[in-house]
Amino acid sequence: MIQKTTAAITAVSGFLPEDKLTNFDLEKMVDTNDEWIRTRTGISERRILKGEGLATSDMVVPAVKLLCEKRGISPEEIDCLIVATVTPDMVFPATANIACDKVGAKNAFGFDVSAACSGFLYSLTLGASMIESGRYKKVVVCGADKMSAITDYTDRNTCVLFGDAAAAVLLEPNHDGYGIQDSLLKSDGSGVAYLHMKAGGSLKPASIETVTAKQHFAFQDGQPVFKAAVKGMADVSAELLEKNNLTGEDIAWLVPHQANLRIIDATANRMGLSKEKVMINIQKYGNTTAATIPLCLWEWENQLKKGDNIVLAAFGGGFTWGATLVKWGS
Ligand code: UT7
Repeated sequence: MIQKTTAAITAVSGFLPEDKLTNFDLEKMVDTNDEWIRTRTGISERRILKGEGLATSDMVVPAVKLLCEKRGISPEEIDCLIVATVTPDMVFPATANIACDKVGAKNAFGFDVSAACSGFLYSLTLGASMIESGRYKKVVVCGADKMSAITDYTDRNTCVLFGDAAAAVLLEPNHDGYGIQDSLLKSDGSGVAYLHMKAGGSLKPASIETVTAKQHFAFQDGQPVFKAAVKGMADVSAELLEKNNLTGEDIAWLVPHQANLRIIDATANRMGLSKEKVMINIQKYGNTTAATIPLCLWEWENQLKKGDNIVLAAFGGGFTWGATLVKWGS
């Protein structure tokens, strides 16, 4: 019998900048306080990539290097690098191209995926399809964002939320049914009004006016995004379980995008999952956009067991959202 090829996650890695920005640091920068941030978001501190000339690719590179070391392969063996990001080094070329060069992935092609906080799930689904097609053997999927580059540290509505990080997984063919099982991905462009960067694209190229008006920073109208996120993430996760004839009891772990602890709790409740089954590290890193989900996998890697059913779920700018079912295979 010919066994179907699935895409297994065979290695996980990440990169966290050393510098920490705590709630107490933010108290000195804007009119906020530790208690408000913790109770409304769950965040205590976040990491910031500091240093002249350092960009998102400088977090992708150590993450990919570590990934290769852990798997015992050379970067030259990578077929494709997909980088999910909304903070590319440049508008073009893709950060993935730059990172492939810096890491010595000479035989890889690479491209970026722009799907904000759902970028990792979109990219993972793409990468898995590439493996399932039989055409590629080693696809690296990396979520990476230097959110500090597009955060206005005079705006208390947004500056308390975001952090910088990168994390990556390696996808390889598997013939025993492990790896990415299913994905439900959604988008609704009418959500653009609530979460976006106003200028710097072709709609409003950079000008003195756009800089003066602070339009090169992430803008968010928090409440509508919060409402859509609670519903979107919970609904899509429940739909994924139902589609695969699973209940919360069959799930070993929920890996939610880390935007707000209250959104995470709502999703876990809807799936009937107790808190012990939910990966949460938002208190340490804040919202690192495309990096949150693989960052959790990296941190919890040692607790994952072969055969564990894991649901990854995200909601973010676009709007974009989705959920992916993984059978852990390593
Ligand atoms: O990852 C991409 C997707 N993004 C999300 O999923 C984020 C979704 N949204 C949220 O998580 C929440 O809406 C926030 C955490 C962004 C905000 O929490 P909220 O409970 O929705 O607060 P709010 O925006 O309704 O603001 C409540 C009050 C306001 O004051 P008034 O108008 O009631 O006097 C804000 O001005 O809190 C004030 N506020 C703050 N106070 C202290 C807003 N930011 C701060 C702050 N410190 N940092």
